[in-house]
Amino acid sequence: MTQTPKKSARHIVIGGGSGFIGTALREALEARGDQVTIISRSGGAGRITWDELRDNGLPQCDVVVNLAGQHILDMSRRWNDAYRDEVLNSRIETTQTLVQTINHSPNPPEVFVSTAGKCFYGTRELDGADPIPELDEDSSPMGMDFPAELVGQWEAAAEGVDSSRIRHVRLRIGVVLGNIERKSHIGKLWRIGRARGFLPIIRLPFCLGLGAVIGSGKQMFPWVHIADMVGILLHVIDHQDTKGRFNAVSPGIVDNKEFTECFAGKLGRRVIWSIPEWLIRFIVGDERSSILLRGQLVRPKRTLEAGYIFKYPDIDSALSNLVQKTF
Ligand SMILES: NC(=O)c1ccc[n+]([C@@H]2O[C@H](COP(=O)([O-])OP(=O)(O)OC[C@H]3O[C@@H](n4cnc5c(N)ncnc54)[C@H](OP(=O)(O)O)[C@@H]3O)[C@@H](O)[C@H]2O)c1
Repeated sequence: MTQTPKKSARHIVIGGGSGFIGTALREALEARGDQVTIISRSGGAGRITWDELRDNGLPQCDVVVNLAGQHILDMSRRWNDAYRDEVLNSRIETTQTLVQTINHSPNPPEVFVSTAGKCFYGTRELDGADPIPELDEDSSPMGMDFPAELVGQWEAAAEGVDSSRIRHVRLRIGVVLGNIERKSHIGKLWRIGRARGFLPIIRLPFCLGLGAVIGSGKQMFPWVHIADMVGILLHVIDHQDTKGRFNAVSPGIVDNKEFTECFAGKLGRRVIWSIPEWLIRFIVGDERSSILLRGQLVRPKRTLEAGYIFKYPDIDSALSNLVQKTF
């Protein structure tokens, strides 16, 4: 079914490649001999800026991946109109810029990988008696909320790429679980705010015994290990017969309660608290609260059909790999 992957070294351009996923992808690409250029808001070695991309066009390359986007749950910032616009524009404008430069390129890349979130599938209030709808790459959103509208606009911007000349892969990413980087005992504490991804954010309260189920805990939690996130990216880059939508979520989806108890267990802690929904709404605001309070039962149907084999298909093996008990 799948064609043999190309083995020769290639040049990969990654928008937003300085971030959590982009750094892991760059390391994997460079380890196998590929050349990487990052598009960033700040210049430097191995980088071009978005302005340079607009002015000079796309450098000669084989692959373009877009991972740019202002974090939607940055707790150091107040959720207001300016932040909301930045979340939208950082995704839509970077995608539009890439699409235009790719389309105008006389020698376009073989593949454009655009990314978005599992929030595409939206949320809706479920009666406890209703079965939770199973969603795969062919499903429509089950309900619209702000994150689903955001992802809809983000994906629409990517659809402008000339797919008659360029293979277009669209990833919908779940919550990416990465390592909690720490080197020393002091570092274990001060690096908390600098490590990337979801786990470092929640590690301290869990270590202090304050880890809590969110709301009812029944909302599904589509997650993916960073090694599989990178693995899926490499798979779609390398396999020239992959195109269209792929969910970058683990097949071993769990609900918030199962995730919370498993994470606490790996840290040698118990979960005795739950955070009421009103408090989550108060902290993150109504528009973003569905990200934490509602979930989606998302399956990686096309990802599995494309032949991708997950290294960490269940939450227990993923968290055993990522979480070390430190205090
Ligand atoms: N991590 C997850 O769990 C997850 C889940 C679903 C979807 N995603 C999506 O996947 C993409 C990559 O995720 P990530 O975790 O690697 O994100 P990240 O660590 O926050 O990195 C994203 C990168 O986007 C660039 N960026 C930030 N704000 C920007 C702005 N206003 N304008 C232009 N560029 C901006 C930054 O690069 P520079 O500072 O170099 O410009 C940053 O390094 C994001 O779009 C995210 O929404 C991530």
